[in-house]
Formats: sequence, C-alpha cells, structure tokens
Amino acid sequence: MPDEEFHITHYPVMVREVLDTYLLNWSPESKLRFIDGTGGEGGHVEAVLKEFPNSEVLFLDRDSEMIERAETRLNHDPRAHSLELNFSDLTRHHLSELGWNDGVDGILLDLGISIYHITDSGRGFSFRGTEDLDMRLSRDIRGRSISAFDVINTYPSKEIERIFYEYGEERWTKKIVERIVERRRTNPIRTNSELAKLVESSIPRKFWPPKNHPSLRVFQALRIEVNQELFHLKKAITDLPFLLKPGGIMQVISFHSLEDRIVKHGFRELVQQNDFTHLDKKPRLPSEEEIKTNPPSRSAKLRSLKKIELSDD
Ligand SMILES: C[S@@+](CC[C@H](N)C(=O)[O-])C[C@H]1O[C@@H](n2cnc3c(N)ncnc32)[C@H](O)[C@@H]1O
Repeated sequence: MPDEEFHITHYPVMVREVLDTYLLNWSPESKLRFIDGTGGEGGHVEAVLKEFPNSEVLFLDRDSEMIERAETRLNHDPRAHSLELNFSDLTRHHLSELGWNDGVDGILLDLGISIYHITDSGRGFSFRGTEDLDMRLSRDIRGRSISAFDVINTYPSKEIERIFYEYGEERWTKKIVERIVERRRTNPIRTNSELAKLVESSIPRKFWPPKNHPSLRVFQALRIEVNQELFHLKKAITDLPFLLKPGGIMQVISFHSLEDRIVKHGFRELVQQNDFTHLDKKPRLPSEEEIKTNPPSRSAKLRSLKKIELSDD
C-alpha cells in the first residue's frame, strides 16, 4: 500500500463499464497486455490489474508529476510499466521495448485532467484560490511551451476570441476579450483569480450560469489551447487503434462535446475501412449511482472500438 501521506484525489470514472466490456471478451485469468494512455493517479490501472491479475499494463501520462503519483499508488507493481509520454506520440517502438511486438489487447484513454490538477497542482487550472496562470500539463509540447499566461497576455485578440468561442462556446467572448485587452495594455494578467474576476465582471450577473462558475468555459478553453488537447486526441484516435492485436479493444472516455465528436468521427472512419467494428451502437453513460457518488463523472461518455479478429474475416 502507498504510505500514509499519499492521498488519492481522483476517482476513476466508469470503471465497471470499462471492465465489463473486457470481461465480455476475455476471462479474468487471461494474460493480456493493456495500454492506459492517461494513467493519471492510476485508478483504472489498479482496477484492470485487480480484475485481470495475470495481465500487464503500460501506463502513460504527459505529466511527470502524475506518473510519480500513479507509481506511488500502485506501489511500483511490476505488472505496471510507466512511461512519461504524450499518448499521441506512442508507437510500436515503445511497445517493442517491452517485448510487446504483436501489439496490445486493450487501449484506454480517460481524457482531460485529473482532480489533482485542479486542487493541488498550483498551475492555475482552477478559478479558485490564487495561482500563476500556467495550465501546462507538460512543458515540452513539440518544442513549444506556451502557458495560459502567454495566451492571455500575448495572443492577438482575434485569436483569443476564436479560442473562447471554439473551445469554450462562450457567448460573452467579445466582452471578455475586450476587458482582457484593455487590462493587459497597462498590466499583465498574472493569476487565475485575476482572470476569473475579469470574466465575472464581463458577464452581467443575471446571465451567470445557474450551476457553474461563470469562468468555467473560459478556463476550459484556455486549457485546451495550452495543451493542444484536440490536436493530440485526433492524432491518437487515428494512430493508436493500429497498435491493437486482432480482437483488441480501444475505449475512450470523453467529457465534453468537442472531444466526443472527434472520437465518434474517428471511430466511424476506422469502421468504414473494414478492420474495426463498434462495440456499442451509442456511447455508454455513467450510472445514476456513479453520478451521485462522483459528480465529475456526470458528463462522461464511453465509446468502444474493436479490431476485427482474423477468424471474423
Ligand atoms: C482524467 S485523468 C486520468 C485519471 C486516471 N484514469 C485515473 O483513474 O486516475 C487524465 C490524465 O491524462 C493526462 N493526459 C491528458 N492528456 C494527455 C496526453 N495527450 N497524453 C498523455 N497524458 C495525457 C493528464 O495529465 C491526466 O493525468
């Protein structure tokens, strides 16, 4: 067990549904090889290894802090192999280093950020407290290392508008960007709380969303831009399914419509090419019970794709 000072902050989402899909295809005694492309705090890795004790998992995270947290949680389990890597950069070369030359049985992506990022990373992902506007999951994205501070303080206003509209679907974009530009002329916007206050003051109170913080959309949009999340997802949906063995399964849990659209269209294209099939007609959703016990799961959607087995040809 991890030592007493270690606190898990993230509850893995739709674990039962992920495992049940595997159990329809394999018995718990099978020796399987899995990739968890978004290891996070290792919740899904732990659950998979508990259900399939003879199996191994290669888990990735682009954030080295998360890799350390998962390793601690998993108590350096020899069946769990870690790799600090963007899931969109994973290739057969990485698998062959483990001797997994014929591919893997399962791939899981549980998109977005971990609760730890919001509550404890100190990188300004949350609109609460006062932290530097950073939002980088890793600092070396293809040689670029643009932080939320850079986006807000140096991008042309039209570009910030595009980001807020496209990634946040924020109706008050024009007003918010006007305020940002006016403010940065004299003083850079350095912290999450300064940005949150600017957003709050740009949206008349009667138009604040009833359940969410008024800055939620702007913060989501910034995070997507800083980490180029949609670019990496598109690439992964195109490339990773080809790492599956025949009969292998890829599952993706998404949390907003921009992500889900990419997964849906990407999977559909693969199915049209004949080597893959959908496992469910519609995305699976978390149960009422899960939403009650773990509210961040409420917007989750799980889509599953299977590589056709040779005997099915
Ligand atoms: C929702 S959390 C995963 C939680 C995990 N399933 C668990 O049970 O603890 C998503 C994780 O994926 C990581 N991540 C996001 N985008 C990534 C990418 N393109 N490549 C690798 N890791 C990524 C984040 O740093 C974060 O730790």
